[in-house]
Amino acid sequence: MAGLIPRHFIDDLLVRIDIVELIDSHLPLKKTGSNYSALCPFHNEKSPSFTVNRKKQFFYCFGCGVGGNVISFLMDYSNLEFIEAIEELAAFIGIDVSREQGNYAALEKHDNLKVLYFLLEKVAKFYAVQLKTNAEAQKAVDYLKLRGVSGIVARDFMLGYAVDGWNELSQHFENTLLFDVGLLTKKDSGQSYDRFRGRLMFPIRDKRGRILGFGARVLDDSLPKYLNSPETVIFSKSNEVYGLYELLQQNSKPERILIVEGYMDVIALAQFGIHYAVATLGTATSKKLLDVLFRYSSELVFCFDGDKAGIKAAWRAVEMAMPSLKDGRQIKVMLLPQGEDPDSLIRQEGLDSFLKRILLSQVLSEYFFEHVTNELDLATMEGRSKLVSTAQTHLQQLPEGVFKHMMQSKLQGLSELPERELTKFLEVSENTATLKRETRRGTLKKSANKLTLTRFTIALLLQNPHLVDTLVNKIPYWDEFYFRGLDVLKNMVRIITDHKPVNMGALIECYRGSNEEKIINTLATYELGLDITSKEMLEQIFVDGMNNLIKQAKDIVLSDLLYKESCHSISIVEKQRLMDMLK
Ligand code: UTP
Ligand code: MN
Repeated sequence: MAGLIPRHFIDDLLVRIDIVELIDSHLPLKKTGSNYSALCPFHNEKSPSFTVNRKKQFFYCFGCGVGGNVISFLMDYSNLEFIEAIEELAAFIGIDVSREQGNYAALEKHDNLKVLYFLLEKVAKFYAVQLKTNAEAQKAVDYLKLRGVSGIVARDFMLGYAVDGWNELSQHFENTLLFDVGLLTKKDSGQSYDRFRGRLMFPIRDKRGRILGFGARVLDDSLPKYLNSPETVIFSKSNEVYGLYELLQQNSKPERILIVEGYMDVIALAQFGIHYAVATLGTATSKKLLDVLFRYSSELVFCFDGDKAGIKAAWRAVEMAMPSLKDGRQIKVMLLPQGEDPDSLIRQEGLDSFLKRILLSQVLSEYFFEHVTNELDLATMEGRSKLVSTAQTHLQQLPEGVFKHMMQSKLQGLSELPERELTKFLEVSENTATLKRETRRGTLKKSANKLTLTRFTIALLLQNPHLVDTLVNKIPYWDEFYFRGLDVLKNMVRIITDHKPVNMGALIECYRGSNEEKIINTLATYELGLDITSKEMLEQIFVDGMNNLIKQAKDIVLSDLLYKESCHSISIVEKQRLMDMLK
């Protein structure tokens, strides 16, 4: 939800920003009739079904069903969180995000986060200074030399040293805050002490360069080899990778990004001039993380040790990546010789051989079919049918596009099923999957002729919030009847009256995160087939719609009362009501 940013600030942004201008700055739009259009950035297509409507301040793709206002666009297109999208919109028109005044709890929380980032920055600098100046750190410097890490790389990655003491940090920084960012650990007795002692420190930064936590390595072979910051309010391991900030400092649009496993792998590769590697933080890659990385490069190379665990991890990563593979995006898999990691390998065989390995890494399609046919005997019908059933669950995950099509053709070749048969098979399972997905997301597309009168009328109001003015003298009577959807309508009228949104884009913002969000987003996409410029005519259509709705609802009440009357089971109050209605 809006959190710390006041509602009126968001309302104001939505008034001041034009969705056509904003989207056009990311994705050139073409004027087509009263709309603007482009090839949809959310799925692959050959002719444009992505449309932007200036009057409604809404975008919608007829192909894949994605739609929303400017905020939703930025969240989807640039993979931003809500707050980040607001910040970007504010920057788009050159203003600062205003924060809630008077909401002290929220303000304090927000300031706290700032304080935490600030503290982590200072601690990282402290560790870096220790590495350079503390006598005890000489062994860390020697260790880095031994591993071939230069001063420049150490500086770029802000490497540091935590001296071997129990209470170093608390002499310089505030205890409670140190505890909040995971730099202190508590004993059972309640006494706290430094988490990292006598270790080489690797600050973990987010894409903007803010320090979130640390990885820390021992200098000998004692265990545990690495200690990491725990999850904190600002640090979530599955959403971050090590080295992304440093990568972006070198090149914000690298040709490819290598995804490796260890801190030292990223460092060693950088040492050899490969500045486009990041390391996962001991967790499996998530779809969210892949989508973030795909923002910066269209090719991701998974790099794993060729041992059993590595092979397993590579397959898991590939499975996870399937839904992110829009056309134009590529995943490759690079399995290293058993027992080697990028660090050991590049040292052994040098930059050129390593670069060759990168170029020779296996493309996903090849890797995929090798993996799913492994241990199957394709000479038998059993083997081939097993192949189809295993492969298709994964292929279904691919977004629509040429790549998906080619993967399916390949499957057809291997399965020796005539194309028609396979397509039929795939379509059946696919339709079930799509249906499930769409029902879950509530975005089942309904064609205009399936519009009921209720949906039509509510959608008309949603798409033209000013129509609320025509309702003023009807509202008092609304408790006399009921129809399905009346609650949605009543709520909408209340929201429009309270917030006075100037268009649909602003109105749907009021529903973000609410129970009605899904239904509202569906109604927002209805093509009402009304390209009406005359305000009066639109009002007339809406008034007629409302009158008909009310009439229908009243007719139901009326026939109910007439029925009761006919069997003499009508109460006095009901009788009075019947008389009134018949008047
Ligand atoms: P590795 O042991 O492969 O890391 O573990 P590395 O970077 O290659 O280590 P050295 O310095 O060359 O020996 C891969 C990753 O797993 C996590 C760390 O994120 C590490 O970078 N890990 C490993 C831990 O968190 N704790 C451990 O004790 C070991
Ligand atoms: Mn290693």
